Amino acid sequence: MRILVTGATGFIGTRLIPILKARNHDVAVLTRDADGYDGAADIVYEGDVLDAGSFEQALTDVDAAYYLIHSMGSGDDFAEKDRRAARNFREAADEADIERAVYLSGLGEDDDDLSKHLQSRREVERILADGEFALTVLRAAIIIGDGNDSFQIVTQLAKRLPMMITPRWIRNDCQPVAVDDVIAYLVGVIEIPKTAGSTYDIGGPEAFSYEEFLHRTADVAGRPSAIIPVPVLTSRLSTYWVKLVTDVPNDIIQPLVHGLKNEVTADDDSIRKHLPITLSSHDSAIQRALDGDGSEPAEKRVLSKLDAITTSTH
Ligand SMILES: NC(=O)c1ccc[n+]([C@@H]2O[C@H](COP(=O)([O-])OP(=O)(O)OC[C@H]3O[C@@H](n4cnc5c(N)ncnc54)[C@H](OP(=O)(O)O)[C@@H]3O)[C@@H](O)[C@H]2O)c1
Repeated sequence: MRILVTGATGFIGTRLIPILKARNHDVAVLTRDADGYDGAADIVYEGDVLDAGSFEQALTDVDAAYYLIHSMGSGDDFAEKDRRAARNFREAADEADIERAVYLSGLGEDDDDLSKHLQSRREVERILADGEFALTVLRAAIIIGDGNDSFQIVTQLAKRLPMMITPRWIRNDCQPVAVDDVIAYLVGVIEIPKTAGSTYDIGGPEAFSYEEFLHRTADVAGRPSAIIPVPVLTSRLSTYWVKLVTDVPNDIIQPLVHGLKNEVTADDDSIRKHLPITLSSHDSAIQRALDGDGSEPAEKRVLSKLDAITTSTH
């Protein structure tokens, strides 16, 4: 299959491309800086989805595309940019007549009071779903992996503070997922035609509170810490405090910390009917992320998850 990966230079895109290549797909990528691209793609296109007319060529002769773009970190108007980017992409993809697109979105209940960040992800889902192509949406909570900003906030808090004062919603549930498993799902859905047009929750093997997530990360890092939830700490105050303790950029911290008020668990496990991959345990995923992705090559781990289900279903 010929596949376009947008967001090819990002946390997810860089890990996805070697697996697509190993599974014998032809891979084109889109980046705003082609000279800076040093990945394994067959063709590199330079373009900006916010600039209609600059990127459409990347969709030429493509069967399917991954939409892995977001503007979080680019300022307060990230939702407006993400809306415009998704509309431009949808129009170009319709014009190019592609068959399928896959979007990695965020978990969270629609009837909950979703944070601005999660609302924006849902809006992008709706915009892309209006395209003539069949859209597959995978919804994930925090993805455990080296270099992911949201996981970096968790690890830096866990490693740097012996004691934390946190908002009460630290007791809300989340269901983090290992980046290896996210990549296996992303590749799996593109290879399984039945998943076209559907939305799936993806999560790790268990859900637990953010508090438990911080404790587990601290334990794996060998820095156990005490957590004291207090009712008076607002999300604005905790944003300032996370800014003090971590070195994640401010524009990223704010939407992520505001999102902690939402429960993000994978309540629907229908993805497992199509892709019953062996999920990584949270502790092993955390350990690998802290070790800079682990000693065994990530590609080998992900490919063996996919090979195992191909073998067992044939
Ligand atoms: N990371 C997570 O925990 C998580 C969880 C759930 C869902 N997601 C979703 O997964 C997707 C990928 O996330 P990520 O963590 O890999 O993001 P990331 O590391 O921040 O990378 C973002 C990518 O978007 C591209 N991009 C941004 N603006 C663009 C534009 N105007 N035109 C073209 N490309 C643009 C960048 O490419 P260039 O700079 O090369 O142009 C970059 O490769 C996003 O849609 C995100 O919402 C992520």
